[in-house]
Amino acid sequence: SPGSDKENFILSVDVGTTSIRCHVYDKEAKIQGACTTKVVPLYPEVGYVEMDPDAIWKGFVTVVKGAVQDAGVQMRQIDALGISTQRGTFTTWDRRTGVPFHNFISWQDRRAANLVKSWNSSCTMKAIKGVMKMLYCVTRQKRMLAASLITFSTQHVTFRLVWALTNYKQVRQAVAEGNCCFGTIDTWLLFKLTKGEVHATDYSNASSTGIFDSYQVWCKCIDIFSKFWCEFFFVISVLCDFFTDVLEWMADQQAAVFGECCFDVGDVKITMGTGTFMDINTGSKPHTSAAGLYPLVGWKIGSEVVYLAEGNSADTGTAIKWAQELELFSDVRDTSSMACSVSDSDGVCFVPSFSGLQVPLNDPKACASLMGLKPSTTKSHLVRAILESVAFRNKQLYETMLRETNIPITKIRMDGGVSSNDFVMQLTADLLGRKVARPQNCEMSCLGAAFIAGLGVGFWKTKEELKKLQSTDEAFLPKGTSKSGAHSPSQEYIPVLQSWERAIQRSMNWYKP
Ligand code: G3P
Repeated sequence: SPGSDKENFILSVDVGTTSIRCHVYDKEAKIQGACTTKVVPLYPEVGYVEMDPDAIWKGFVTVVKGAVQDAGVQMRQIDALGISTQRGTFTTWDRRTGVPFHNFISWQDRRAANLVKSWNSSCTMKAIKGVMKMLYCVTRQKRMLAASLITFSTQHVTFRLVWALTNYKQVRQAVAEGNCCFGTIDTWLLFKLTKGEVHATDYSNASSTGIFDSYQVWCKCIDIFSKFWCEFFFVISVLCDFFTDVLEWMADQQAAVFGECCFDVGDVKITMGTGTFMDINTGSKPHTSAAGLYPLVGWKIGSEVVYLAEGNSADTGTAIKWAQELELFSDVRDTSSMACSVSDSDGVCFVPSFSGLQVPLNDPKACASLMGLKPSTTKSHLVRAILESVAFRNKQLYETMLRETNIPITKIRMDGGVSSNDFVMQLTADLLGRKVARPQNCEMSCLGAAFIAGLGVGFWKTKEELKKLQSTDEAFLPKGTSKSGAHSPSQEYIPVLQSWERAIQRSMNWYKP
């Protein structure tokens, strides 16, 4: 029995955007206990999204206690703790007292949209990118080319941190006095767990901030945030105390890649949670693209560093939750059958852009919209349009990845809460013209963090052993696939996709100034 004193377990916590979850895993990676609590987002102004740091800490403690109790095990039976966290959400606090200067500013927050837009289109940026490209031509240093391709995003910490430094006097003062700690959620939890002793992060979280240079790790300069960018943004004093060496902490998307056992070059996972995050394993080299695929450190185990390239769409679960709040349906499990109950969306197009449009459109000022409404439009048409938009964004991300990485894609695994929607899964397979696989348990971030923590303490020994622990998949094959495996993409969606692309264009650059 799970409560048996002889058995040991791994505990894993996933601090997501809408909930904090804790699972107790046994040797077969089966969940023996679980506990979940909600994260309450705060919306102090239009475009602002915040979280209370104390509430995050209390939520963390609650789920750990709850899951251990649920499993009926003793704390001494827990061999290791894995933590996966949402990325790019940060706060600053007083090093001496541990009291935060402000709430967490979420990765979904758009307060820095103007800054991002103006920097991306500024003459200074164009000049820097031009110089980088020239240097690349002379030196053939891939890093120069990569720097010339980087596109800023509001989801990265960079410009929101600039905003905080500009707008919070107490933060500037603490920086000047050397008392300011900066941290993403993993750093905050570690600081709290160690009663203020440790101020650290890991490579996967650091590389998701936008101020850590993944190419530095590649160049064997195992250092910290890119000195160039830090000096460029005058924030080096906030970051200089930062160090990295804790491997049991992972950013949630990288953890999901690990949980899906996407260990080989070309393996892809698509996580559809609050947003959609598509990641491809690019092996031992980071990869950047002009369309905005971002180079991330996937994980670092000993001397092995694995890189990912990531594209995302910020509003997936948020769009479905919004529709539920409007009472288009009461149970999210009904949405797939609602969408299938009509033959099309009756010309309705939904643009999932509560937090702007990301790769390959990269417009933080795009608005969400519903277009083509008619007196004949029913709730089922609206639900279908929303679910179609999720699959359409998957297609855009996939095609960008194919075009810009030139890496043959070996397999596609889909997880996250929205992957339980059969309509989205099937339409994604149809539009990609590829088989997509869904694991039985779709909470891959929690499992990935458990795997990393378990490997760290020898609970599991090798990545091959982890592969054998994977649950049975459910496969979705594209319609029109012949026995030989050839695929003729369905024509019926071409006009629908064209209308949707027009709706996207009309929603772009909506918010002024
Ligand atoms: O980069 C943001 C991402 O980590 C959020 O993930 O699972 O909270 O939607 P999730």
